[in-house]
Amino acid sequence: MALLKTNKVIYCLGNISPSLGVLSTRNSSWWGEVQMGPPDPILGVSEAFKRDTNPKKMNLGVGAYRDDKGKPFVLSCVRKAEAIITTKQMDKEYLGIGGLAEFSKSCAQLAFGADNEVLNRSITVQTISGTGSLRVGANFLARFHGGPRDVYLPKPSWGNHTPIFRDGGMQLKAYRYYDPSSCGFDFKGALDDISKIPEHSVIMLHACAHNPTGVDPKPEEWKEISDIVKKRNLLVFFDMAYQGFASGDIDRDAWAVRYFIEQGHNILLSQSFAKNMGLYGERVGGFTVVCNDTEEAKRVESQLKILIRPIYSNPPMNGARIAATILNTPDLRSLWLEEVHGMANRIIKMREQLAAGLKNEGSSHNWQHVIDQIGMFCFTGLKPEQVERLTKEFSVYMTKDGRISMAGVTSGNVGYLAHGIHAVTK
Ligand SMILES: Cc1ncc(COP(=O)(O)O)c(C=O)c1O
Repeated sequence: MALLKTNKVIYCLGNISPSLGVLSTRNSSWWGEVQMGPPDPILGVSEAFKRDTNPKKMNLGVGAYRDDKGKPFVLSCVRKAEAIITTKQMDKEYLGIGGLAEFSKSCAQLAFGADNEVLNRSITVQTISGTGSLRVGANFLARFHGGPRDVYLPKPSWGNHTPIFRDGGMQLKAYRYYDPSSCGFDFKGALDDISKIPEHSVIMLHACAHNPTGVDPKPEEWKEISDIVKKRNLLVFFDMAYQGFASGDIDRDAWAVRYFIEQGHNILLSQSFAKNMGLYGERVGGFTVVCNDTEEAKRVESQLKILIRPIYSNPPMNGARIAATILNTPDLRSLWLEEVHGMANRIIKMREQLAAGLKNEGSSHNWQHVIDQIGMFCFTGLKPEQVERLTKEFSVYMTKDGRISMAGVTSGNVGYLAHGIHAVTK
């Protein structure tokens, strides 16, 4: 079929509409000016990985847990919860705007501890996983936070934080966090920068298993951060996407959040069940605003509903039912705690094996940070050109900043990874 393009109209010759018996016309595209955008820095890595035909290829880009055979892992507690839900033949009616009430309650209890007084003066809504929670939080801040529009992120932070807050109407600033010379926490730099943040600004803190660095403050350091944040009168937004994943212990991983509450910070909190329950595609999360009292929490809840309703109306129910069933059925909850522990331990073991493998290869670098960092990711310290070589020569895929997902490393491929890293760093 021939196409004749005039100034504004494309005529399709030979395409006669049977009903009208005339030539059909189509306006020129509305989207002709739209530029090709870059691929997502993390999901783009997975696309390149899929195209690679090397049988030894490794995808260490995306943060999704794999078992020791490199296969996606569905937790047994999730399978059992699904079976319970199926036998109950539950309806598929809409949830309320704030989601499944028993989920939101258990979600907040998991973060704060079951008996924390703060549960009476906070509001938790079910959200579309951690990302959705952060976005609802960003929109809430943009609409109601009376202070500066600035959100201070650790440098570096999870890549999606910037677009989430920017698209949500906030401005991004940064405070020092990672020290490349030690591959550890830049405690002095962080305190120094935080002490200069203008009052009433928002500060983002990763509750545990900091992404991408795997570097967390120690309890003593958290205490000083809390003091200085209080002195500066900053509004704290905690992102807790890895509760249980860092140490294998859900209470230990929530320590910083609970300490800040104890110290009187009325925080915002984002939670995700993607990693710790392996519910990635189910999109289960929670957003919490800690208030001064119950009455304030009610007012905030009413506004969160007004904000959510025109975005997605109400969240999906399946994942929230699974999570709520696990959290509220004693046997399933114990099984879950065992399984979280198992996932965290496998990752810790892989860290040790990778460091040992690098030593065996004869690497003279200090790889202690591979063991010391915590959670799903290891910030290897590899430079962009070394990352490029690792991908090109060894088919090992990772983000350009040198971050690898330890969850994709197995007993079967850890030796190959050590060999590759040594080859590009010697
Ligand atoms: C720090 C951090 N926050 C939030 C999320 C949100 O993840 P999701 O939307 O899958 O729950 C992630 C996921 O990688 C993360 O690393």
